[in-house]
Amino acid sequence: MTKITFVATDGTRFAVDAEDGLSLMQAALHHDVPGIVAECGGCAACGTCQVHIDSAWIGRVPPAEPLEASVLAESENDHTNLRLSCQIVIDATLEGMVVEVAAAQR
Ligand code: FES
Repeated sequence: MTKITFVATDGTRFAVDAEDGLSLMQAALHHDVPGIVAECGGCAACGTCQVHIDSAWIGRVPPAEPLEASVLAESENDHTNLRLSCQIVIDATLEGMVVEVAAAQR
């Protein structure tokens, strides 16, 4: 388990013990974090799982693959540290990570 803190768009914080091997998107859904829709189920197609990774942690996650980058390029959100949460797999190196749910989900 890895501790991840999700911050909803209203500022509510959800500190969860997330199962390693799940994506951030799956962990958010399992813990009822509001704002993550995940219409496509995690295949980087829908853009409804967008999050901002805290600056302290962005260097610990692999860069976006081309498909993810193409979806994010269309996003209305501030692109700073913007990622699709379905494309980030949780492991122990992410212990303590803070993730903000992005305002727009499309
Ligand atoms: Fe659809 Fe992440 S769940 S892009």
